[in-house]
Amino acid sequence: MKILVTGGCGFIGSNFINYLLKKYPRIKITNLDLLTYAGNLANLKDIEKDRRYKFIHGDIIDGRLVNRLMSEKPDAVVNFAAESHVDRSLYKPADFLSTNVFGTQVMIESARQHNIKRFIQISTDEVYGSLGLKGLAFKETNRLDPSSPYSASKAAADLLVKSYEKTFGYKAIITRSSNNYGPYQFPEKVIPLFITNAIADKPLPLYGDGLNIRDWLYVEDNCRAIDLVMRKGMPGEIYNIGGNSERTNFYITKTILKLLNKPLLLIKYVKDRPGHDRRYAIDISKIRKQLNWQPRYKFEEGIRKTVDWYLNNKKWWKQIKTGEYLKFYRKHYQT
Ligand code: NAD
Ligand code: TYD
Repeated sequence: MKILVTGGCGFIGSNFINYLLKKYPRIKITNLDLLTYAGNLANLKDIEKDRRYKFIHGDIIDGRLVNRLMSEKPDAVVNFAAESHVDRSLYKPADFLSTNVFGTQVMIESARQHNIKRFIQISTDEVYGSLGLKGLAFKETNRLDPSSPYSASKAAADLLVKSYEKTFGYKAIITRSSNNYGPYQFPEKVIPLFITNAIADKPLPLYGDGLNIRDWLYVEDNCRAIDLVMRKGMPGEIYNIGGNSERTNFYITKTILKLLNKPLLLIKYVKDRPGHDRRYAIDISKIRKQLNWQPRYKFEEGIRKTVDWYLNNKKWWKQIKTGEYLKFYRKHYQT
């Protein structure tokens, strides 16, 4: 199988590439990544010399480049590339529209023209908006009601992908997963930020009352689900992917501090994020019934593995936190 992955130097994309190369001896993967602040070649350093893997430095908005890669006729395209952080989208929304909306348009148009059989658009549960504490978990049929420029840009991309089905009969598949966590997550997202701050005895900035709820999905579970969707999912379908692990932010903070043997005093309550969604919860019955998938990790097991990974890979995140990595890629890629 020959696969084109975009955004493969980011958190989920790099876990996905590592996962596929371990699982399938005969696979071939091309990874198109712009190496923004969130893309890190170190995430794939163990496989960079693997002959089954090829890295292309470039932008998904670059139609000529994308057309060249699509003309190599991959069996599947998995579009992870995105600006992915809600807080950044509040301050610099234009980047989100460019990659998440226009980039997706370039990708799907090119996939259609090249008659690519399987196109997987990686979306998010955030497109559904916020649930009340007693609201029913999100189903694939819920209406889209995004709250942030990030989730609005992802919802726009989903609508565009669906429009290709109605207008041109080109059927892509969309996955909408809940919050991922695990190795190689950039320490701006709450779990790696809090783990790395706690290790360094720095404050953990908890937004608002700390009682917002997310459904936590260990990244390996998501990779297994995306692989299944890529091979066996029904074209034209949307699949929710969740971790069956709804937890409050306070609970995850407390758990991280406990695992690291650090005091609750490190918690610093700060001003709430504007438009902060209260709760996400995912109904996974469709993917469970159609593809026989369910998460293997409960939050308490996944977080233990994640904390251990950050403890054992200080060099990886210290380079990011001190800006060393940024200097490295600017020098090499003049971005
Ligand atoms: P990330 O920010 O860690 O990585 C994004 C990657 O995309 C980086 O390697 C970056 O260099 C690359 N990229 C950005 N703009 C690009 C462009 N124009 N062209 C080519 N490459 C570009 O993101 P992530 O957390 O791995 O998320 C991956 C996907 O999964 C995103 O589409 C995101 O919306 C979705 N998602 C993430 C989560 C989560 O919890 N992290 C949950 C649900 C869905
Ligand atoms: P985040 O990791 O940014 O993911 P998302 O906003 O996509 O869900 O945030 C997860 C939760 O943690 C969210 O409710 C916001 C909260 N949060 C904090 O309390 N403090 C922080 O410093 C960050 C980054 C997030």
